[in-house]
Amino acid sequence: MARPKIALIGSGQIGGTLAHLAAIKELGDVVLFDIAEGTPQGKALDIAESGPSEKFDAALTGTNDYADIAGADVCIVTAGVPRKPGMSRDDLLGINLKVMKSVGEGIAKHAPNAFVICITNPLDAMVWALREFSGLPHEKVVGMAGVLDSARFRHFLSLEFDVSMRDVTAFVLGGHGDTMVPLARYSTVGGIPLPDLVKMGWTTQEKLDAIIQRTRDGGAEIVGLLKTGSAFYAPATSAIEMAEAYLKDQKRLLPCAAWVDGAFGLKGMYVGVPTVIGAGGVERVVDIKLNKDEQAMFDKSVESVQGLVSACKEIDETLA
Ligand code: APR
Repeated sequence: MARPKIALIGSGQIGGTLAHLAAIKELGDVVLFDIAEGTPQGKALDIAESGPSEKFDAALTGTNDYADIAGADVCIVTAGVPRKPGMSRDDLLGINLKVMKSVGEGIAKHAPNAFVICITNPLDAMVWALREFSGLPHEKVVGMAGVLDSARFRHFLSLEFDVSMRDVTAFVLGGHGDTMVPLARYSTVGGIPLPDLVKMGWTTQEKLDAIIQRTRDGGAEIVGLLKTGSAFYAPATSAIEMAEAYLKDQKRLLPCAAWVDGAFGLKGMYVGVPTVIGAGGVERVVDIKLNKDEQAMFDKSVESVQGLVSACKEIDETLA
């Protein structure tokens, strides 16, 4: 059986890391695409040359021609510009919306059967626009945010409790921005929910609140340190986890920016929710019951995503 084909649209910091991870994990053959001439070709060759030491069987190629992504099983989109210090993800809207148009058209023409994972920010609006421009089925177009946001939450919690990250589960809902909703009630250490750990004296409510805020600001913390760009290792790893769930039909329960139509009382929009990812793409949106406070936070986040989608429609009338 031929290896799966993974097309990476955007070969910058995240794109290069995606290619390296996909090759090391032998998820398939990798095509790096970018508008910058030489960048995808150079990265493909560099990573291919790590193959003899790493001992992977995967072909890597770089291209500036969409025709080379033909028949891709998975497309991961990072094309666009990242944040600089002082910028919010929303500041990227105008520039990255135009990029989503060309990427959506390229995927529709050459890889219409792919499972598409969008990483470009502002995430929830860009994944919506990418789906609109590509016309692919909603269940095959998804945004990577929740896996990263919960990984950050899990990392901070494991530091606080001095336990393995493997035993910490975390649950983050809503848009990938300042209004994201880390849900303490559904986050656990070895199955024990965080509010119980507060009662058991493992931490205090104040410390937990600070960790939740650090999770919300997780992307900005890294932008502030790097100064010249945004996070790329953990975002790439998170998207690879989603791609693997699709390619291996793992039916993983992962928080993603998915099309929600009916669940959570929403009528057709992209926002971060728990999903099941398998061979069918987003096979299920897990509709959980929120309490009053959680619902209020989720509503605020939904409102902020809707604001960004409206802004997209104002910039590009074909989206209205
Ligand atoms: N088509 C294809 N590639 C493009 C296009 C386009 N129209 N416009 C820009 N690019 C490429 C750039 O040439 C660059 O190589 O996208 C790449 C982006 O890479 P980086 O600038 O290194 O950004 P990165 O850190 O990878 O982040 C990409 O993901 O997390 C988000 O906010 C982040 O929106 C940003 C995106």
